[in-house]
Amino acid sequence: MRYKVFVTRSIPESARKKLEALYAVEMWDSENTPVPRGILETKIEEIDGLYCLLTETIDEELLSRSKNLKVVSNMAVGYNNIDITAASKRRISVTNTPGVLTETTADLTFSLLMATARRIVEASDYLREGQWQTWSPMQLTGQDIFGATIGIIGMGRIGEAVAKRAKGFDMRVLYHNRSRKPEVENHLGIEYADLQSLLKEADYVCVMTPLTPETKGLIGKDELSLMKNSAILINTARGGIVDENALYEALVDGTIWAAGLDVFDQEPVDLNHPLLTLPNVTTLPHIGSASIKTRTTMAELAAENLIEVLEGRTCKNVINSEPQRRV
Ligand code: NAP
Ligand code: GLV
Repeated sequence: MRYKVFVTRSIPESARKKLEALYAVEMWDSENTPVPRGILETKIEEIDGLYCLLTETIDEELLSRSKNLKVVSNMAVGYNNIDITAASKRRISVTNTPGVLTETTADLTFSLLMATARRIVEASDYLREGQWQTWSPMQLTGQDIFGATIGIIGMGRIGEAVAKRAKGFDMRVLYHNRSRKPEVENHLGIEYADLQSLLKEADYVCVMTPLTPETKGLIGKDELSLMKNSAILINTARGGIVDENALYEALVDGTIWAAGLDVFDQEPVDLNHPLLTLPNVTTLPHIGSASIKTRTTMAELAAENLIEVLEGRTCKNVINSEPQRRV
């Protein structure tokens, strides 16, 4: 076999077989334990292709150990776990899996919005804990969704898919994005707003940007203070975009009403994290794209991306604009 590939986690068989048909493949064969850094450091010295997850930090220090590495294929659309500059410097292509998870992640984002607004998890716990004594007028009352205003920060693929769902609920949709998108505004009937206006007007603020140096801490104390006391913050993008300490304070002192979080600054989140003590926070373990079909498709696409690069074919999912292949 011409090339050696290392896969950092147990992946669906259909994806693994695509790689094994062509290359000498080694896999960290575990469902739930990330590959130890030491093993990754040893493997990277001898491989041509790395197939990794968002749980692996692919930084300068790791990449500097590589000798033959030509491609890092991330089984995720977000790639904040990879130092793209360090990879480009070594002419290593980095690929991701955009598009195939858009609708599934938008479904989860809207589910989390609805669950938070209508206190679904809290209500379920209430029943199971034996607290349900009677029907009562204001018991477990939440916020309306139909006809409310949603503000989406980051009008990319997933942002648009969330906007479509919101339109189905007759919501007014505001968006803020790095670049304005007039064709999307016309097509979906949504309105551009500067960040401050969006935060002031929205009943639901939904974060949908990538985590970058520009978006780190984008939602902090000042931004939260602009939101309505009845507003709900939903973050299914990346933890670092929202300042968790400021969010905790805002939820405790009633600056905002509730939050739904699929992502955290540190994952898995520490069970002693203050946010986990609050009844007005709905938490999920980063499951935005987690449907069987979508995760299988993502795994296969990540394998195809890796193969395209190693075989010298054009790969449309290369992030670092086709650095010259390492020889
Ligand atoms: P995308 O199509 O690239 O959309 C990202 C959008 O964010 C783009 O429209 C971009 O603007 C905008 N943006 C970037 N920086 C900005 C800034 N500083 N201020 C305002 N807007 C900014 O990506 P996507 O496929 O929708 O995915 C978005 C993110 O969701 C991913 O990067 C990932 O972190 C996260 N995600 C999470 C899950 C999960 O399981 N929870 C699943 C999938 C994805 P331009 O149009 O100007 O480029
Ligand atoms: C998941 O978070 C992804 O970026 O695909």
